[in-house]
Amino acid sequence: MTTNGSRQTLLVTGTTSGIGRVTALDAAAAGYAVVATGRDEERMKDLEREAARRGVELDIRFLEITDHKAVENLVSEVARGYGHIDAVVSNAGGIFALGTAEQITMDGYRFVMETNFFGNLAVIKAALPHLRAGKGRLIVVTSANGVMGAPYNEAYAASKFALEGAVESLAPVVARFGVRTTIVEPGPVVTGVMAPRRLAKLLPNEQVANSPYPEPWDLLTRVIANTGGVQPVEEIGPLFLDLLASDNPPLRFQTAPWAVDFVAPKIAADIDGGRVAAASEAYLALAD
Ligand SMILES: NC(=O)c1ccc[n+]([C@@H]2O[C@H](COP(=O)([O-])OP(=O)(O)OC[C@H]3O[C@@H](n4cnc5c(N)ncnc54)[C@H](OP(=O)(O)O)[C@@H]3O)[C@@H](O)[C@H]2O)c1
Repeated sequence: MTTNGSRQTLLVTGTTSGIGRVTALDAAAAGYAVVATGRDEERMKDLEREAARRGVELDIRFLEITDHKAVENLVSEVARGYGHIDAVVSNAGGIFALGTAEQITMDGYRFVMETNFFGNLAVIKAALPHLRAGKGRLIVVTSANGVMGAPYNEAYAASKFALEGAVESLAPVVARFGVRTTIVEPGPVVTGVMAPRRLAKLLPNEQVANSPYPEPWDLLTRVIANTGGVQPVEEIGPLFLDLLASDNPPLRFQTAPWAVDFVAPKIAADIDGGRVAAASEAYLALAD
């Protein structure tokens, strides 16, 4: 857990609830120097209390990932303060605009893209020089919906597909500089992702005359409740710790059997992205 005699520095975004929260707390308990970002002051205080309760140390900082200048500044400050950034878990997201193309406004699509795609891209861009310098690790949280589209959740799927495409393209390039990249694709996990605060932030949809469509939040809630594969969030932290510690982490990682089954129609032949990684390396080698 050390780099040049000091603890490895891990930056995790979106740690005020869900996957980011357990990852930050478990990584701190495992000995990483964790910089945990959040944007809600109350939930940041709650995270601080939970860290204290567990007797672990977290460096909790404010970060709104759609503020790209703030992302650059935060990453620079962390690198300056700790001397190195060894790993990044780009996790903040879970932003929706639900419905079909007929219902979702263009602003709705942009709202989702701003966080789930551009915000995460800003984090990755800012972190890369530091990860290259230390042959570090990049973990980007997309979704099973980053591989398979999901009815009535197309803006979310589009944003996660975009992030998958960017990271899948980046991974072989930075691998040549020693940076190991994993795209994490959860299925349904019990987190704040469907909390009422998300519903409250949904932008109004287009009014479709004589709409044949069901109410999409209600539909998504029922689909998730009936999957039978909803994963407890506590399972997630140890999975991230394994990925961070692995000498040879996969390009893709689904967090639960349900997620594996969901993406299988498209990527069963390459569930962990090993063949993609080899094909990308062969593509790069064409220029050598
Ligand atoms: N839970 C699932 O079923 C599931 C499935 C597949 C993929 N995922 C992905 O897993 C990741 C974590 O989600 P989660 O399930 O843990 O949901 P969550 O409990 O809602 O956590 C999301 C975290 O991201 C933060 N966040 C959202 N937008 C942000 C922004 N613009 N700037 C900074 N922070 C922001 C949230 O902060 P606030 O609390 O302030 O909003 C929260 O801390 C997301 O990328 C999500 O898409 C989740």
